[in-house]
Amino acid sequence: MLVRARGRGDELGCRGVRPGVGAALRVLAATGGARSVVEVGTGAGVSSLYLLRGMPADGVLTTIDVEAENQRAAREAFSEDGVRANRTRLITGRALDVLPRLTDRAYDLVLLDAEPLEYDAYTDQALRLLRRGGVLAATDALWRGKVADPAQRDRTTTTMRELGKRVRDDARLVPALLPVGDGLLLAVVR
Ligand SMILES: C[S@@+](CC[C@H](N)C(=O)[O-])C[C@H]1O[C@@H](n2cnc3c(N)ncnc32)[C@H](O)[C@@H]1O
Repeated sequence: MLVRARGRGDELGCRGVRPGVGAALRVLAATGGARSVVEVGTGAGVSSLYLLRGMPADGVLTTIDVEAENQRAAREAFSEDGVRANRTRLITGRALDVLPRLTDRAYDLVLLDAEPLEYDAYTDQALRLLRRGGVLAATDALWRGKVADPAQRDRTTTTMRELGKRVRDDARLVPALLPVGDGLLLAVVR
């Protein structure tokens, strides 16, 4: 199912998370027994499937994407994988319009995998949504290897570099940067 979802994502131009990132997300969801998860960037449902496979059977994934067509592909992936309809809540819309409508401190895990230039604003929302002990996960944190090279100063690289520093320096968070995929930034809310 993951292979098919990944293929549909490639056709739609929204690349699914790499297997190393997916495995890390599944472990995080399982370790924390994450029952309420928010995903920003449904795409064709690759990361959603990993999260759902790690979450307890009664866990609910709220997943947001601006493209209805991508979410249709994700629905197909969920159905092929036997995911019950009441385990997913798909919301079509811009993340920065949708996230403010979600409830404070009600979520165990928030995954960011959408528009990198908006990650800082997504993080503001994620920190409001997460419970104590909840985990923020952000993909592409090394941005094609450019974040570690100070000579690289394009907007996306700078946004990702600043996000890494912000998370590292926030005393409310326990941070880690996993070298999987293009870098998976993690932060647990103390
Ligand atoms: C890299 S793909 C997500 C892949 C998905 N997480 C997976 O593993 O299959 C990024 C997705 O973010 C969505 N996106 C881009 N900008 C967005 C925004 N401002 N609000 C919500 N979704 C957005 C795109 O439509 C696309 O489906």
